[in-house]
Amino acid sequence: MHPLRSLILAAAGNDAIRRLVATAPVSRDVVRRFVAGEQTSDAIDVTRELVASGRSVTLDHLGEDVADAEHADQNVRAYLELLDALHAEGLAPKAEVSVKLSALGQKLGERLALANASRVCAAAEQCGTTVTLDMEDHTTTDSTLRVLAELRRSWPSTGAVLQSYLRRTFDDCKSLAGSRVRLVKGAYAEPDSVAFDGHEVDLSYVRCVNALLTGDGYPMFATHDPRLVRIVAERARWYDRKPGTYEYQMLFGVRQEEQRRLAREGETVRVYVPYGSQWYGYLMRRLAERPANTTFFARALVSH
Ligand code: FDA
Repeated sequence: MHPLRSLILAAAGNDAIRRLVATAPVSRDVVRRFVAGEQTSDAIDVTRELVASGRSVTLDHLGEDVADAEHADQNVRAYLELLDALHAEGLAPKAEVSVKLSALGQKLGERLALANASRVCAAAEQCGTTVTLDMEDHTTTDSTLRVLAELRRSWPSTGAVLQSYLRRTFDDCKSLAGSRVRLVKGAYAEPDSVAFDGHEVDLSYVRCVNALLTGDGYPMFATHDPRLVRIVAERARWYDRKPGTYEYQMLFGVRQEEQRRLAREGETVRVYVPYGSQWYGYLMRRLAERPANTTFFARALVSH
C-alpha cells in the first residue's frame, strides 16, 4: 500500500487527529465537494438535482462505529426521516439508501444491527425503494453477509457490497450473483493475509465483473477507474447485457463529467451521496484513495 495512503487511513481511526480536523475551521467547500450537507433537506436538494440530470442516487446518512444503542436508534430515525422525505418529494423510485451496519449497532451485537436494519428496510419498502448494505473492514464481512441473508428473506431486493481487494470476494460473488451486488475495490487498510494489493485488486475486480454479469442478479459496478469502466462496458456487450440490467455507480463529487457521459449514452448511473455531520471517516477514506486531494484539503484548511 502507498505510504501516504496508509498514513491517511491510520489518521481516519485516530481520535486526536479526528478532534483536530473536526474543530479546525474547515471550509464548507472542502466538505461540500464530497458531502451533500448536514441536513436531510440538503440531501434532498442534491438528489433532486442529480435525478433531474438523468442520474439515480443512493443516500448514505454518515455515521459509523456507534458505541451505544441510543446512538444507533438515532441513526435509524435519520434514515426513516430521509425515506419519508424521498417519498414525499416523489424521488423514491430513483433514490435508494446505503446503510453501514456499524452505524446501526453491529459492534453491540448482530441481533441489534439486524433489528435496526429491518426497520430501515421495512420503511424503504413502504416508500417504494430499497436498501444496500455498505461493507466495512474485513472483520465485519461474515457478520454483514449473515445479516444480509436474513434481510433478504423479507426484502429480497436488499443489496450487498463486495470488495475486490479481499481474496474471498470471487467466491462471495458467485454465491451472491443472483442478487443486487455493488462491486467496489475496497477502501479500508487490510492485512496482506486477507487482501490483494495494487494491480491484483483490479484483476480480481475483472474476475468478479465476469461472475456477476453471467449471473442472473443485478450487478452495480462502483468504480471511477477509467480502465475498469471500459472493461465493464466491453464485458456487458460480450454477455449481451442491455443497459438497465446492470448499472455504474460513482461517488458524489468524483468524475462528474464521466457520470454525465455514461448517463447520456443511456446507461444507468447511480451517484452515492453522503450527508450528515459525521463526515470525518468518510472524507479521510476519499483522501486516501487519491492523495492528490490532500493538497486541496490542506490548502483549504490553512486559507480559512
Ligand atoms: P481507484 O481508487 O484506483 O481510482 C481510479 C481513478 O479514479 C483515479 O486514478 C482517479 O482518476 C479517479 N478517482 C478515484 N477516487 C477519486 C477521488 N476520491 N477523487 C477524485 N478522483 C478519484 N468501499 C468500501 O470498502 N465499502 C463500501 O461499502 C463502499 N461503497 C462504495 C460505493 C460507491 C458507489 C463507490 C463508488 C465506492 C464505494 N467504496 C466502498 C469505495 C471503493 O472501495 C473505492 O475505495 C473507491 O471507489 C475508489 O476506487 P476506484 O475503483 O474508483 O479506483
